Amino acid sequence: MAKSSLTYVCQSCGATSSKWSGRCDACEAWNTIIEEQAGTPLSGARGASLPKGRATRLVGLKGENAAPPRIITGIGELDRVAGGGFVPGSGVLIGGDPGIGKSTLLLQAMAALARSGQRVVYISGEEAIAQVRLRAERLGLDDSAVLLATETNVSDIVTTLAEGAPPAVAVIDSIQTLWSPNIDAAPGTVSQLKAGSEALVRFAKQKGTAMLLVGHVTKDGQIAGPKVIEHMVDTVLYFEGDRGHQFRILRAVKNRFGPTDEIGVFEMSDGGLSEVTNPSRLFMGSGERPTPGTAVFAGMEGTRPLLIEVQALVSPSPLGTPRRTTVGWDSNRLAMILAVLEARAGVTIGTNDVYLNVAGGLKVREPAADLAVAAALLSSLTDTVIPHGTALFGEIALSGAIRPVGQTEARLKEAQKLGLKDAVIASTAEQPSVKGIRVKQLETIMDLVAWSAAQDKGSRRIA
Ligand code: TYD
Ligand code: MG
Repeated sequence: MAKSSLTYVCQSCGATSSKWSGRCDACEAWNTIIEEQAGTPLSGARGASLPKGRATRLVGLKGENAAPPRIITGIGELDRVAGGGFVPGSGVLIGGDPGIGKSTLLLQAMAALARSGQRVVYISGEEAIAQVRLRAERLGLDDSAVLLATETNVSDIVTTLAEGAPPAVAVIDSIQTLWSPNIDAAPGTVSQLKAGSEALVRFAKQKGTAMLLVGHVTKDGQIAGPKVIEHMVDTVLYFEGDRGHQFRILRAVKNRFGPTDEIGVFEMSDGGLSEVTNPSRLFMGSGERPTPGTAVFAGMEGTRPLLIEVQALVSPSPLGTPRRTTVGWDSNRLAMILAVLEARAGVTIGTNDVYLNVAGGLKVREPAADLAVAAALLSSLTDTVIPHGTALFGEIALSGAIRPVGQTEARLKEAQKLGLKDAVIASTAEQPSVKGIRVKQLETIMDLVAWSAAQDKGSRRIA
């Protein structure tokens, strides 16, 4: 038998190369490149002349177009992130770290759909039937009519799904266990993942089933990550959170049928995942007794405003190179804010260790949090407290200017709703007015330093 050609495929980003190397040139991940047979049906056809095709009908842009019907689970946080429910015939990828709660969430969602009379199928390639049943029992869902199977062979899965009426929703848990007999590679490799997912998404389009594909995010390259199939599906949701916290965040990063950046917040408990409908209360901290270094950021997550506590600790460093540690915030952005504070406002932080933490295990990506971060840093450095009930937001430019950010009104309204009385924001052309909130506008980081200095002294030690 002729030796088929080998390619080297990064299991993290899917880039291919003709030789092995320790580090992927495309995504710079280490030890993620493995050898694969270039034997997928598509690449096999390369070079051969195409069979004769048939002409497709060409149409204009304008035409009758009904809004896609939605499959609504009734789990509000999930439906909203999906864009108002799942769309029949769509492929949805749900990625996340192992153990974060993907299977739990989907089992709960499927049980809810089954209760409303939908035909739903849950195919597990990771857990035995008994394990899934045990979980269902623990969650009190064992009486629901979810159809269950354990299978990893893609052909068998497709055949199973095609029997009888096509399911409204099918869950494949997980894509990393999928295995197609016609592909000469181990399960979990990029070619298996792609071929399996492609076959399932094709089934979804043909039969109108919403296909939910679970994918584990992988840190080492032993198995391929969900990134490699993101382009094949219509919707990509990531389930994130800190294992040390009970909060879980479902985030839409791609959605052909709805907005992205939308988040859903859940809480993991003994009884599974429950929705958190008022997440600000959760991420704001109690703040009964304000302490130096704590600031409340009025952020936006998708269409939803969210109040988030930012905590900073600045303390003299015994080290030659002081520590800079961030949790839930970009460390480059912290370095930038520290540099702006030093260069534009003459604040010396250089010889201090700096720790920055976002409460609740949330990851903040908005530059609008700059002002709250700077205020928290100043507050810790100078041992002053930011008064209880103050929300901050604004972007800090390298010049030291504080810039306005979008959705001012929505942020202020959320602050007002949660009983805050003050807001410190960038100066805007129009004075925003939200009843019950006093707004203080700052132009530059110098103004922030002056504002911070005017606040009450805290006491460094907890009494
Ligand atoms: P799981 O859904 O299996 O994660 P994934 O499918 O993303 O790998 O969730 C596993 C974790 O969730 C596990 O560590 C136990 C925890 N858990 C609870 O805390 N409460 C529960 O009711 C359930 C079902 C799981
Ligand atoms: Mg699982």
